Amino acid sequence: MDVLVIGSGGREHSLAWKLKQSPRIGKLYIAPGNGGTRLVGENVLIDAMDFEGLAKFAKEKNIAFTVVGPDNPLGEGIVDFFKQRGLRVWGPVKAAAHIEGSKAFAKRLMREAGVPTAEFEVFSNHDDALSYVRERGAPIVIKASGLSLGKGVYVCSTLAEAEAALNEIMVERVFKDAGDEVVIEEYLDGQEISIHALSDGKDFVLFPPSQDHKQIGENDTGKNTGGMGAIVPVPWVGAEALKDIETRVVRPTLRALAEHGAPFVGILYPGLKMSSQGHKVLEFNARFGDPECQVYTRLLKTDLLDALEASADGKLGSAKIEWNSGFAVNIVLASGGYPDAYKKGFPITGIEEAEKVPGVVVFHSGTSNQGESLITAGGRVLGVSAVGDTLKEALARAYEAVELIHFEGKYFRRDIGRKALAMPMR
Ligand code: AMP
Ligand code: GLY
Repeated sequence: MDVLVIGSGGREHSLAWKLKQSPRIGKLYIAPGNGGTRLVGENVLIDAMDFEGLAKFAKEKNIAFTVVGPDNPLGEGIVDFFKQRGLRVWGPVKAAAHIEGSKAFAKRLMREAGVPTAEFEVFSNHDDALSYVRERGAPIVIKASGLSLGKGVYVCSTLAEAEAALNEIMVERVFKDAGDEVVIEEYLDGQEISIHALSDGKDFVLFPPSQDHKQIGENDTGKNTGGMGAIVPVPWVGAEALKDIETRVVRPTLRALAEHGAPFVGILYPGLKMSSQGHKVLEFNARFGDPECQVYTRLLKTDLLDALEASADGKLGSAKIEWNSGFAVNIVLASGGYPDAYKKGFPITGIEEAEKVPGVVVFHSGTSNQGESLITAGGRVLGVSAVGDTLKEALARAYEAVELIHFEGKYFRRDIGRKALAMPMR
């Protein structure tokens, strides 16, 4: 069957790479794709937000199944749009993706369903927000409620920072209407993990826990990014904790969404803090994490097409999702300057050599082609992934490969997986 993947990041390269391995795959298209996706399928120059264009393409090419990667088209209702036109598509409808699109909605849903999360209040008036922040004091966390490309969260260690954050969101309105509502919540300590549950609206399957490294600097310092590297599984998260997350977070959230008339089909991805007061949800995403997806696709044994179709068709109850043993990791290679301003257009070399290291696959995030050469075209440029029998082995392989890839301004964190290795194992 012919399949269309929508998106252009490392997540979508890894989805296309894994889908390509299905014996049932026919033609594989990626819209708009990047310099890497063209190696596994055909890039189609249609923007992920051009719903008319995408649906027209899917009709014309008789696409049997469309897989949507990124949050923006999901939040704007691409799945509803495709379904209304009789097109088969995988991902949550707009009302279900709202759990990512509105942090205020997600927090209220969690409160209602008794899901453990940081204490919070929601504000739409600057003066009220300011008095609340002054009353609570620092540390405190301030979030623009809407989608803001991951930039709308301010973890404030002083009151002055918190006041500046409120000013940016509510007075200067740097996130426009994404900042109409502001969530102010208690600061939680502890390590963060990523949970992914594949849901069909009734049943769900929990993936092994993964861990991203969101900050730009080593030892989790500096600005937040889209993610600088991931590992799966997280060895210190035991079966008991996972069971508890399943029963206290995933199940009640999916039930609450269904009760709101928005059964969730797709990947529900809660980010959790394993804090000293137990695990608490930081946020919900309505899609695969990136780079998390790049490590899940490396460890997944089951045919991804089978898994996503079972989710779309309400058949997860009888589906079996299997994983290979061992670990998968990824190291993101970014452009110098990211997550602030950076330059584009530098030639990239060494990917072929890197992929000769055992267990290594390189996924592209921000690359494009200029004539014969591959050039940098984004903040996150490549994701160097590796599998191994142990976490240490997977990391050693990935870091060996990282050294073989070159482009001007290449930046990466040297400590991916280090904090997991330092934890007592379960
Ligand atoms: P979010 O987009 O809500 O996941 O927030 C982005 C990042 O900010 C998270 O990955 C955390 O590292 C941090 N963060 C968000 N909420 C909190 C909180 N309540 N306490 C501490 N850190 C937080
Ligand atoms: N890796 C973080 C995210 O995709 O939101």
